[in-house]
Amino acid sequence: MLYSMLLGSLVMVTGVVAQEYTLIQTYNVSNFFNEFTFYSDVDPTGGFVDYTTFDEALAQRLINNISDYIYLGVDHENTVPETGVGRPSVRLESRLTFTEGLFVLDLKHLPVGCGTWPAFWTVGLGKWPADGEIDIIEGVNDASGNEAALHAAGDCQVSKDVDQTGTWKSTDCNIDHDKNQGCGSQFAEAESYGAPFNDNGGGVYAMEWTNETISIWFFVPNNVPESLLLPDSIPDTSEFGTPSASFYGPCSEDFSKNFFNHTIVIDTTFCGGWGGSTFGKGSGTQCVIAQGSTSEDSCKAFVANNPEAFNETYWAINSLRVWQKLCLMMLVRVSNRKMAMIGNGTTQTQAMQEKMKTVKQRVRAPKTTQ
Ligand SMILES: *[C@@H]1O[C@H](CO)[C@@H](O)[C@H](O)[C@H]1NC(C)=O
Ligand SMILES: *[C@@H]1O[C@H](CO)[C@@H](O)[C@H](O)[C@H]1NC(C)=O
Ligand SMILES: *[C@@H]1O[C@H](CO)[C@@H](O)[C@H](O)[C@H]1NC(C)=O
Ligand SMILES: *[C@@H]1O[C@H](CO)[C@@H](O)[C@H](O)[C@H]1NC(C)=O
Ligand SMILES: *[C@@H]1O[C@H](CO)[C@@H](O)[C@H](O)[C@H]1NC(C)=O
Ligand SMILES: *[C@@H]1O[C@H](CO)[C@@H](O)[C@H](O)[C@H]1NC(C)=O
Repeated sequence: MLYSMLLGSLVMVTGVVAQEYTLIQTYNVSNFFNEFTFYSDVDPTGGFVDYTTFDEALAQRLINNISDYIYLGVDHENTVPETGVGRPSVRLESRLTFTEGLFVLDLKHLPVGCGTWPAFWTVGLGKWPADGEIDIIEGVNDASGNEAALHAAGDCQVSKDVDQTGTWKSTDCNIDHDKNQGCGSQFAEAESYGAPFNDNGGGVYAMEWTNETISIWFFVPNNVPESLLLPDSIPDTSEFGTPSASFYGPCSEDFSKNFFNHTIVIDTTFCGGWGGSTFGKGSGTQCVIAQGSTSEDSCKAFVANNPEAFNETYWAINSLRVWQKLCLMMLVRVSNRKMAMIGNGTTQTQAMQEKMKTVKQRVRAPKTTQ
């Protein structure tokens, strides 16, 4: 009797909740450094950077959680050899991996400065790029205005004709085309990146990844949707307005083949393919190319010799939250295992969050992604 009552309520819950988001993970000062690993090998994106371990980063004061935000910075006190690996910094990768979901990053500040190339992105654990890459926040040098992009293996085209506020740079996501530019959009709002972002007090980024579309929204601090502000509310992306970037089209008919099992990455690198080639031009016009030198070499020399130029090169993260829509089968499977929790003082949502935790995969972060 009790069993069937429980089963009854479960089936009901499943029916109601299937279309709504459930909060899967909150990252904040309390748990951030336990939930992310520090990647400390050679930068797979070719940057002029020395990625440190957690212990090194702590000792060199590159990171902390002593305020009400997570600080992820770079060395801004020491010069480094121009011929060395580069400037000390951090690259963090979430222990949990995700396929689909709503990812919301609330920021106070992001890294800026000539030579910098910060990014907030998700990427597969397998051999890059077989499991795809979603770049949510990315930019270089003194750019303002975010650029979001997808990178995928094989044929992957998205439609130009979508409802978004950003401007397409390319709709071809294949990494072998256009020097791996990816399919991407330049955001319309200057305050979505760089110094204007920081001067405006930061902002909130939301990336929704479903089996049919990937959308990215940027909200200035005083325009964050209510459902993202109230601690216990369920986000409804249909109320978020027009996204800045909307990836949808031929490729999205089979999105799950190109994008799956992603870790969340937050890093700050320097120069490299994008930052170095645009130093002194394009999105780096304030950065000075040394006489008789190339953009790339000028970038390295600047980064190596001017530590004080990087005191604004840091992420200040209020929180990162991930929601997912629980599919019927997963709920039922998990519920059968830990059924007793339902109806015993635990709210249904809490119970399901607990249950979800048991199905989240704890994985080692990848060592070779790009
Ligand atoms: C971090 O998030 C957890 C889970 O939502 C919450 O219980 C905790 O109070 C948060 N910590 C801070 C310092 O906000
Ligand atoms: C800061 O991070 C450490 C390591 O993860 C953790 O033990 C500590 O509780 C965190 N501090 C705060 C104030 O949450
Ligand atoms: C996406 O998922 C929904 C709900 O499970 C399903 O109805 C739809 O057919 C799926 N679309 C694709 C392209 O797989
Ligand atoms: C995702 O990772 C899980 C656990 O490692 C694995 O079982 C699953 O096959 C992966 N998914 C794909 C599409 O490779
Ligand atoms: C960085 O240095 C500049 C110039 O000295 C200064 O105006 C700014 O306040 C510093 N920022 C931080 C975070 O210390
Ligand atoms: C219900 O909760 C109480 C108090 O936490 C606990 O003692 C009891 O074992 C729980 N019952 C079930 C069926 O889980």
